[in-house]
Amino acid sequence: MNIDLKGKIILLTGGSSGIGRASLVMLASGKAKIIAVGRSERHIEETLAIVPQAHFIKADLSKDSAPDYVIEEVLKYTGTLNGFLHSAGVIYCEPFETFRMNELREMAKVNVESGFRILQGLLPAFKNGGSVVFLSSIDAYYGGDPPSSGYSMTKSALIGLTKVLAFELGRSKIRVNSIVPGLIRTPMTENFWDDEFKRRREEFLNRIPLGRAGTPEEVANLVTFLLSDASSYISGNSIFIDGGYHTG
Ligand SMILES: NC(=O)c1ccc[n+]([C@@H]2O[C@H](COP(=O)([O-])OP(=O)(O)OC[C@H]3O[C@@H](n4cnc5c(N)ncnc54)[C@H](OP(=O)(O)O)[C@@H]3O)[C@@H](O)[C@H]2O)c1
Repeated sequence: MNIDLKGKIILLTGGSSGIGRASLVMLASGKAKIIAVGRSERHIEETLAIVPQAHFIKADLSKDSAPDYVIEEVLKYTGTLNGFLHSAGVIYCEPFETFRMNELREMAKVNVESGFRILQGLLPAFKNGGSVVFLSSIDAYYGGDPPSSGYSMTKSALIGLTKVLAFELGRSKIRVNSIVPGLIRTPMTENFWDDEFKRRREEFLNRIPLGRAGTPEEVANLVTFLLSDASSYISGNSIFIDGGYHTG
């Protein structure tokens, strides 16, 4: 997508892989200045090989101290932000009856709390307003196979947060939206293409009106639109990008 983002400074979590990386590449090609959070050294290096000018902060967002560290590092680099994408996410699948609390807590911290705290701490940097995008999931609306009530809980929280923050921060000219992807082929979902998941995969793909998984670049198009001024009157929405899955 060709959108001019010159002069914009955008912070991304999850910028080292999948949807976050594809968004980073697209935003950088639109001339935005990028600050990104990643955890894996290898994934950060791979991303820097594509966009060497990106400024990476290495942090494990499941740790309590990480959001404050990220805020501090961002403020060392810039006092102004125009956009924030919270793409960092992790999924554990278990039946509800046996869901493990350590996995629930890790998802809550990475998927929700870290985005909440980083945005809260950096709010003063949005001096001229801005745009915030959270990565939710169709799992916030539909049961999945394999099941993940815990993941669904965290992704639903982002939808609620989107609405209330759009209301609360609108007066400061900050727009807040969520993206609700269906099945997107990234490292997070790559094992779904293993032979052992053949039957479940085919069933899932059959339920998608467009009959295929999405690509990280297709989601990055929507991210780029929402972080740009082309979407200047859009706030408080959670937008499906799922090949029509939610209509079935
Ligand atoms: N793929 C899908 O089908 C799909 C569907 C709906 C929603 N989503 C959501 O979309 C977002 C991006 O997912 P993806 O598919 O692009 O997955 P991905 O390729 O696995 O990327 C996940 C990103 O989150 C980061 N991350 C995970 N745990 C972290 C931690 N503890 N600390 C810091 N960073 C951490 C990873 O960093 P490192 O790589 O550096 O470890 C990576 O950059 C997630 O929020 C996911 O829930 C994905």
